[in-house]
Amino acid sequence: MSGREAILLVGGGNMGQALLRGWLADGRAPETIHVVDPDGRAREAVESLGIKASPGRPDSFRPDVIVLAVKPHLVEGALQDYRDLADGRTVLLTIAAGKTIAFYQGLLGAGAAIVRGMPNTPASIGKGITALAASDIVDPDRQRLCESLMAAVGQVVWLEDDGLMDAVTAVSGSGPAYVFLLIECLAAAAVKVGFERDLAERLALATVSGAGAYAMASGTDPAELRRQVTSPGGTTQAALEVLIGDSGALESLLSEAVQAAARRSRELA
Ligand SMILES: NC(=O)c1ccc[n+]([C@@H]2O[C@H](COP(=O)([O-])OP(=O)(O)OC[C@H]3O[C@@H](n4cnc5c(N)ncnc54)[C@H](OP(=O)(O)O)[C@@H]3O)[C@@H](O)[C@H]2O)c1
Repeated sequence: MSGREAILLVGGGNMGQALLRGWLADGRAPETIHVVDPDGRAREAVESLGIKASPGRPDSFRPDVIVLAVKPHLVEGALQDYRDLADGRTVLLTIAAGKTIAFYQGLLGAGAAIVRGMPNTPASIGKGITALAASDIVDPDRQRLCESLMAAVGQVVWLEDDGLMDAVTAVSGSGPAYVFLLIECLAAAAVKVGFERDLAERLALATVSGAGAYAMASGTDPAELRRQVTSPGGTTQAALEVLIGDSGALESLLSEAVQAAARRSRELA
């Protein structure tokens, strides 16, 4: 991996632009990247970063990697123009939700090198987490290349295959929405105990984001962190008794939610 690989980004929307910002921040040269997007505004945004963009496939650009970042229902149509590149030399890194490696193999043939990724929204500020899975023929160099492209927007974990991708979608893909709901609920509870809405929202947001950052920075097991801030008979314990209850109320609710999301992800695939 040289850091000079030619990257063809198909789809320069929200996630595509987040990736571009990450790659540039990582020191990748703008001239090693080309973006295809039919949307004029997306192309303008890309060009404002100093990167070339076109509405269709560029004539003279032989990519080492095609990064596919279009909506899932547009994947099949978008890939029509790149079938000749599915020769195992160019790796296809796709982040379209729900589309399996087997789906791409059916479309492009078993000789296509495919890496499937599932990032999440915090990638747009470089704080995402992406799960990656590769088809059998992707060699270590191409795996490293895909990993470095996703690491530009956050952490990366590898799965042995993409069988657990629906579960990833249910945990870290949809997960930011669960945390946003927690912020909303904590703010609403703060209003009920007497705060103005603005102050309630500030307290809730800073508490959730600060606790997450603290848990990440400390590297300590969250259960241990919780014990450290829970004095016997104190205020935190009073609240946790409600949240945990005799039957682990919050845990079973979240478990049900994650299972519902995984089920839906399988249905949509
Ligand atoms: N956003 C997230 O947090 C997130 C998380 C995980 C996975 N993903 C996946 O990432 C993918 C992109 O999501 P997004 O939120 O970035 O979507 P988006 O903002 O709609 O961006 C997609 C872009 O692709 C363009 N496009 C459509 N057809 C194309 C084609 N044939 N060739 C090239 N470009 C084409 C779209 O143009 P038009 O607007 O003209 O159609 C749009 O500018 C999705 O598959 C999604 O499942 C996103």
